[in-house]
Amino acid sequence: MAQRVCIGVFDSGAGGLGILFECLRLSHGVRYFYLSDEAHAPYGSRTEQEIAAYVREGLQIFEALGVDAAVLACNTATAACVEEMRRAFPFPVVGTEPAVRLAERAGCKHALVLVTPRTAQCARFHALLARERDRFTVFSPPRLASAVERFVTEGERFPLSDHLPRGTFDGVVLGCTHYTLVKDEIAAFYASPVFDGNPGTARRVLSLAGRDGQPPAGIFDHRKGGLTTNKRSAQECEPTTKNEVFFLNSPKIYIKLHDEHMFSTRFPSKTVIFSQMSENFFDFSQKKWS
Ligand code: DGL
Repeated sequence: MAQRVCIGVFDSGAGGLGILFECLRLSHGVRYFYLSDEAHAPYGSRTEQEIAAYVREGLQIFEALGVDAAVLACNTATAACVEEMRRAFPFPVVGTEPAVRLAERAGCKHALVLVTPRTAQCARFHALLARERDRFTVFSPPRLASAVERFVTEGERFPLSDHLPRGTFDGVVLGCTHYTLVKDEIAAFYASPVFDGNPGTARRVLSLAGRDGQPPAGIFDHRKGGLTTNKRSAQECEPTTKNEVFFLNSPKIYIKLHDEHMFSTRFPSKTVIFSQMSENFFDFSQKKWS
């Protein structure tokens, strides 16, 4: 494949779209591979060992595709196995963590932290929350991620009030990427600010995806609000070059994006090409180009 910077985005389902969209906003000319493990979702009700095995398989596909970096666009997968994956793969593996620090920095004293049941039990999450254990309330809605998944892929509406605890909070941390897809609705439900790690995660994976220690071609410099000054970027990848997104095994998400133009207002066609990877193009069972 060509010189483009390639980034793999992995989630159990549609939740990772939030991070993909942040990446698309910050980059041009980057090729993204989106891989969702619908067969084993929801991860929130899986064991850490199961999740690690599924994530490893996903990242092996990214490795075969030659990605420059991968992002676990899933708090649950990150909590369960990000360190293990970093040791196992030759490319940077960026995780997604509940945005507890953002809520702290915003001055929250009584935030609600929403995470999946598995994340709530992981040692990594406990360490992240340690400072706020007595002040922040953790809640794990057992079926919210699946409800959001059906909403995004099938258009099936659901009452948020069936999934969320009542209470007054000065902030809500969305510690599952699926929850970020109904961010506005959750903010309205609690009438309080919500925090998610999607923008930070996107910036991190874009900065790590560069080759030879250089910033990757075509990445917007978020600090300056413009393009990077990297000469290689300018030569190799014109700012007008579209991002590309290949959906590896997410037919429902792909069809939704195309047929119903669900996200078309966010990404006019001139900024991104969406495409479904053909089975003849990449052999998933062999994990190699055919
Ligand atoms: N989107 C995933 C996360 O961020 C998990 C959803 C699931 O339970 O599969 O935690």
